[in-house]
Formats: sequence, structure tokens, C-alpha cells
Amino acid sequence: MFSKQDDTMSVSLKSLNTFGIQANAEQVIYADNEHQLRTAWQDAVQKKKPAIILGGGSNILLLSDFSGSVILNRLCGITIHETEDAWHLHVGAGENWHGLVKYTLNKGIAGLENMALIPGCVGSAPIQNIGAYGCELQNVCEYVDCLNLVSGARKRLSAQECQFGYRDSVFKHSEMADTAIVAVGISLSKDWRPILNYGDLKQLDAETVTPRQIFDVVCHMRRSKLPDPDITGNAGSFFKNPVVNEQQAKLLLQHHPDAPYYLQPDGSIKLAAGWLIDRCELKGYRYGGAAVHRKQALVLINVGDATGQDVVALARHVRRCVGETFNIWLEPEVRFIGSQGEINSVETIA
Ligand code: FAD
Ligand code: EPU
Repeated sequence: MFSKQDDTMSVSLKSLNTFGIQANAEQVIYADNEHQLRTAWQDAVQKKKPAIILGGGSNILLLSDFSGSVILNRLCGITIHETEDAWHLHVGAGENWHGLVKYTLNKGIAGLENMALIPGCVGSAPIQNIGAYGCELQNVCEYVDCLNLVSGARKRLSAQECQFGYRDSVFKHSEMADTAIVAVGISLSKDWRPILNYGDLKQLDAETVTPRQIFDVVCHMRRSKLPDPDITGNAGSFFKNPVVNEQQAKLLLQHHPDAPYYLQPDGSIKLAAGWLIDRCELKGYRYGGAAVHRKQALVLINVGDATGQDVVALARHVRRCVGETFNIWLEPEVRFIGSQGEINSVETIA
């Protein structure tokens, strides 16, 4: 276990969050096995200090210094078990997600290509049920292995027990607060079918397309509109796409027939938050060091030394403009982290 600890509040988290927000923690601990993860957590509890587990820091907004331990999950390892009809992968939670996508494709195993280039760790993927270009983690997830950091008990949750939804799962519920995800089971069918229902993928020929071509098109689409966090700090989509009922959607579409919308299996309708923000003419709008990305209005970016409070103020403005214009009130996808741990993001920007 490698730990960085100097004086109180001395370890910078700037390189550990893709927003590139400068904030400090008392301690940063790299854990590459379950014992280290649990020991680091229990040390913090004993000292009556808060602790938080992070993967790649690509879905968080740091609002202030963190008054305790940041534990970086670096539990690695990939094993593959082949059966007649599928490959079953058991993946350590600290593996890089995009690295896993490339690793499987290089081995001739298809099924993850639509979710290429999503930043962060495999262990974080079930938390918000990551998804892109027509595919979500729930389409391939077989199980999630959890460790209770207080009791030390291990538990394997089936995909059904994970209660996956749009950017949602049981791991966002408060009863999972003391739980670390330590591994994810992924099942990739040998009966591969291309998923080509989103954006530029629609132009591909389902009969001849290869997983590698889908991977390339997805990477190209993403690079053309999403900022690279290594260059411009961001955490991907800042807000979730709002899911509304038929009546609310009809009202919007009466006035704005060009608004993109996606029918959901339960009859509700998902709207495009990026389109709503764009329509409020907020692209490029800036508050302090934070701004609305010009190529994708759903992404808030760090244009130079943004503080967490700059991003909060910008998000509040965006939410208010969209709410007052369309009577649709956006909710952040990004998790807000205060000095003691996670705080309610909707209340923070209301
Ligand atoms: P972190 O930001 O480190 O953590 C997120 C939350 O999970 C925190 O609350 C943390 O405490 C908790 N956590 C982390 N690891 C564990 C663990 N092992 N056990 C328990 N709790 C844990 N998301 C999508 O769904 N689709 C996209 O297309 C997409 N595109 C993106 C593009 C960009 C440029 C960026 C910056 C982000 C994008 N995201 C996208 C969001 C992000 O990549 C995902 O949410 C990702 O799964 C976060 O992984 P992470 O390891 O960085 O999580
Ligand atoms: N749009 C605009 N203006 C904008 C942005 C978008 O008009 O500034 C329109 C687009 O033209 C399109 C629609 O809104 O008709 C949807 O846009 P896009 O295809 O870019 O996708 P999104 O809904 O904004 C979602 C996910 C992304 C994921 C992509 C691709 C959420 C919150 N975001 O974005 O996930 O990569 O679809 O599947 O669901 C993330 O979660 O961090 C993330 C990047």
C-alpha cells in the first residue's frame, strides 16, 4: 500500500480528478488489494475522519478540500473463462475501462466496442451503469463483487440485484455507503450482433461491419465532440438527460418539433439535455474558470483554474435557464464531493 501523507491537507487531488480542480486531501492511499482497501477505510474510521474510494475521478466535482482519506482503488487483474457460447470475464475493479475494451477486441472478443473511450475504472462502471452509443453496462454485466468495508463480508450481486437503470444502480443507494466494488463479471456472447442504432453508427452495414470498425467510429464521434480531459478539464455529461412523461414531452414537442427525444420501454420519454441547454444559447457561457463546452452543451469544462464553486455557480445558472425556459429541471450526473464526503448535488445547485 503506497500512501502519500505529509502535513494536514497537503496532498493535491488535481491530477486525480478529470475536472482538474485543485483541492487537497489529508491523505491519498493507493490500494491494490482488498486488505489494503479495508485497512485504509478502517484507519480513517478509527481516526473519525471521512474516507472516499475513487477510481479515475472522472465523474466527480470536488467542492472543497477533503478532510480525510482518498483511497484509490487499484485492484487489478483480468481472467477469462471460455464456454461454448460466451466469454466470461472476471475483472479487477481498478482496471481501466477503455483498456479493457481494447484488451478484449485485441483478443478477438467483441461486445464492448460501443462503450469505447469512456474514462474511469471498471469498478465504477456499475455505479451509474455506464452507457454510450446504444449500449449500457447492464447489457453485458453478469455480477458485481462487493466488499463491506466495516464487516469485511464479501458479497456477489447478480446483475438483477444491481437494479440497473439509466445512469443508476443499487450502488447509488445509501445502504451501500460502506461498500467497495472489488470486481465485475462481464459476459460477452459469441453470437455477436452489432448495435448500430446511434449517430454515425447508423451508416454502417450490419451484414459486413466488424467490432473494430464500430470501435473506430465510436472513438471518432467521441473525439469530435467531447473534450479530452488531459487537455481540458471536464467530467463528461454534467447533467443526466431528463426522463419525462408523455404529457410533458408533448408540450415540449408542440413548441419545438425538432427537439430530439427517445422513447423508453416503460412509456416515458428521454429528452436531450444538451439540446435544451444549447437552445438557451448557453454554449460558451462562462462563470469564473468554468464554461459550457462549445461543441457539446451538456459538458461543463474547466477553462482555467476553475474552482468547484465556479462549476456549481455555472451549473446553477444552466439549470435555472433550462428550467425557466422549458419547465424541465436538470439533475447532475456528476457526483459532488464536499469536505466530509458526497453531498446532494440537486440541492447544491437548486
Ligand atoms: P470516480 O469518478 O473515481 O468515482 C465515481 C463515484 O463512484 C464516486 O462517488 C466514488 O466514490 C465511487 N466509486 C469509485 N470507485 C468505487 C469502488 N470501487 N467502490 C465503490 N465506490 C466507488 N459516463 C458514461 O456513462 N458514458 C459516457 O459516455 C461517458 N463519457 C465520459 C466522457 C468524459 C470525457 C468523461 C470525463 C467522463 C465520461 N463519463 C461517461 C463519466 C465517467 O467516465 C463514468 O461515470 C465512469 O464510470 C467513472 O469512473 P471513475 O473510475 O472515474 O469514477
Ligand atoms: N445536442 C444539441 N446540442 C448540444 C448537444 C447535443 O443539439 O450542444 C443534441 C444532439 O444533436 C443530439 C442530442 O442532443 O440530437 C443528443 O446528443 P449526443 O448524441 O451528443 O448525446 P447526449 O445525450 O448529449 C449521451 C450520454 C453520453 C454518451 C452519449 C452517447 C447522458 C447524460 N450522456 O449524451 O454520456 O456518451 O449519449 O451515447 O446520458 C456521460 O454520461 O458522461 C456521457 C458523455
